[in-house]
Amino acid sequence: MNKERKLIIAGNWKMNKTVAEATDLLADLTRDLAAVKEVDIVVCPPFTALQSVSKAILETKNIKLGAQNMSENNFGAFTGEICAGMLKEFSVRYVILGHSERRLYQKESDALIAKKASAVHAAALKPIVCVGETLAEREANQTEKVLETQVRGSLAGLTKEQIVETVLAYEPVWAIGTGKTATTQQAQDAHAFIRRLLAKMFDEAAAKKVRIQYGGSVKPANAKELMSQLDVDGALVGGASLEARSFADIIKNSI
Ligand code: 13P
Repeated sequence: MNKERKLIIAGNWKMNKTVAEATDLLADLTRDLAAVKEVDIVVCPPFTALQSVSKAILETKNIKLGAQNMSENNFGAFTGEICAGMLKEFSVRYVILGHSERRLYQKESDALIAKKASAVHAAALKPIVCVGETLAEREANQTEKVLETQVRGSLAGLTKEQIVETVLAYEPVWAIGTGKTATTQQAQDAHAFIRRLLAKMFDEAAAKKVRIQYGGSVKPANAKELMSQLDVDGALVGGASLEARSFADIIKNSI
């Protein structure tokens, strides 16, 4: 596949995998994906497995490590939080921010996500900023309005230099873990809308460089068609990233 932007496919393991399971999964992925150079591959284990996975990842050349969240503060009295300085000890490169599950269960706001995104960049890490509408919002024809509010709010304060080092993930909430994938046209339309918005917020050249992942029931069977869309530059995979075979097949089918 010949695309303007290099594909980036990340596995969001969410609150799954013990240390032993995580290490096994990484070993299988290392074996299955050794030859892949065309795609940036990222795995995002839970915090408790970052250390063991980071050791195993040293053996691989083409798999990078991501975290699933990060504090907007750096060290101090913030019980239960994890900061950039801690993630960097484990060679973390990417941090997922504003996942819809955190927006829902932890009540994360766009303003908080923007602070976290700035903190991620300040630490020379790369954020993967998630946005997406609910089913009710889509049915009420509010998709673009919701995406605009989330994109503008969650990226507030970022510079042009920072936005090109930011990955966005369009994850329609109704497609997450439901087996319902957005149609390729729905995905492409949302991605193109986000890119036009980035051009307005920053400029055309920067918008062209930003990679926008699709997330929501991505499987080996639908990966190729989704990735073939002009503005779809990768995937953020939940359930299908928990098993080496399906995650590796998503990546191989996308090339
Ligand atoms: P599923 O792939 O399980 O639908 O999850 C998508 C997701 O939330 C990735 O962040």
